[in-house]
Amino acid sequence: MASISRDTRGAAGKAKARRSSRDPLVLGIETSCDECAVAVVEGRPGAATILSNVVWGQADLHTPYGGVVPEIAARAHSRTIDAVAGEALRVAGVDLAEVTHVAATAGPGLLGPLLVGATFGKAVASARGLEFVAVSHLEAHVLSPRLSHGTAWPYAVALLSGGHAQFVAALGPGTYRRLGGTIDDAAGEAFDKTAKLLGLAYPGGPEVERAARGGDASRYAFPTPLASREGCDLSFAGLKTAVRLAAERTAPLSPQDVADICASFQDAVARVLTVKSARALAAFADLAGPPTALAAVGGVAANQVLREALAGVAEAYGTTFVAPPLALCGDNGAMVAYCAIERLAAGLAEGSATRVRSRWPLDEAAAPLLGAGRRGAKA
Ligand code: KG4
Ligand code: ZN
Repeated sequence: MASISRDTRGAAGKAKARRSSRDPLVLGIETSCDECAVAVVEGRPGAATILSNVVWGQADLHTPYGGVVPEIAARAHSRTIDAVAGEALRVAGVDLAEVTHVAATAGPGLLGPLLVGATFGKAVASARGLEFVAVSHLEAHVLSPRLSHGTAWPYAVALLSGGHAQFVAALGPGTYRRLGGTIDDAAGEAFDKTAKLLGLAYPGGPEVERAARGGDASRYAFPTPLASREGCDLSFAGLKTAVRLAAERTAPLSPQDVADICASFQDAVARVLTVKSARALAAFADLAGPPTALAAVGGVAANQVLREALAGVAEAYGTTFVAPPLALCGDNGAMVAYCAIERLAAGLAEGSATRVRSRWPLDEAAAPLLGAGRRGAKA
């Protein structure tokens, strides 16, 4: 099966230094989509150390379908999770007997895959008599700058992932206000759909970014949806349609045409995020005064062009731009373990009675932007 990546930086030395520590030593499990990820993290809020961060990607299983097939993902997670967890402990130089807490993503995400990771985590915790911590995948992404950079509260976040696109005011542990969000597609979904349309592989984000490097961003004048509308809500559906129409108009597509469409598309996303993140920073200031930083998190935050655009906005606004390293942008277990560390320290940890759910908004008080219904708001 696909790629396995390990973070092995000085794990043995860190493990040795750890022996005297009384901070939580957390096994973090992430299976909300197509990454089977387990990590070991130790520390406290704003000062935690990643001892291992193992990600077993399944992209090759889903590539033939152009997107993640939930049942295939769930079956693959149940085949690999034990080995991935063992590898995370081995790389960390940690024995399971030393672990103090087990954390797993309980939502939002694909139900079958979520159930595999959460059930595995609960079983390990129960067998070892450890506390289990249920983690929100979105909160884990939002807290990742505190893990990588020790970013201080309060800070503004552009959460850009395969299933989400929203601006969030991160005010303190467990306190998040949505400043704006997508009214249709997620940011990563726009990249993935553009890639699929152009015959590029799944996941589309990295493919589009790669193709765009050789492209002319000024060739296609794609729209910047909702740019003229007040506030910082986002929309990517119209952009997707514009890409489809351009591709149909230009077909048959040469590699250069594909590169030009990718560059123009990415440029449109960068322009829209520039306008909207500036407004999000203004909304943040109205709500909570100046933020300590503008952070970009989630898989799409791996994109260099988008990072530069957001960094430019932060600079113009007089704040710092923060983006976690690539290993912490895509789905990973370290952010899940770290989220548990924050929740435990704040006395806000949710335990094994927490229901695994496909929908779990970060700001439960905010009105649903889309997908309200029986299972709750999608975003
Ligand atoms: O956060 P993530 O790993 O999973 C979710 O929580 O959804 O995000 C995955 C998304 C995918 O849509 C993928 O295409 C996108 O992140 N992505 C990128 C890049 N790398 C990953 N999008 C744009 N540029 C990239 N370099
Ligand atoms: Zn994610």
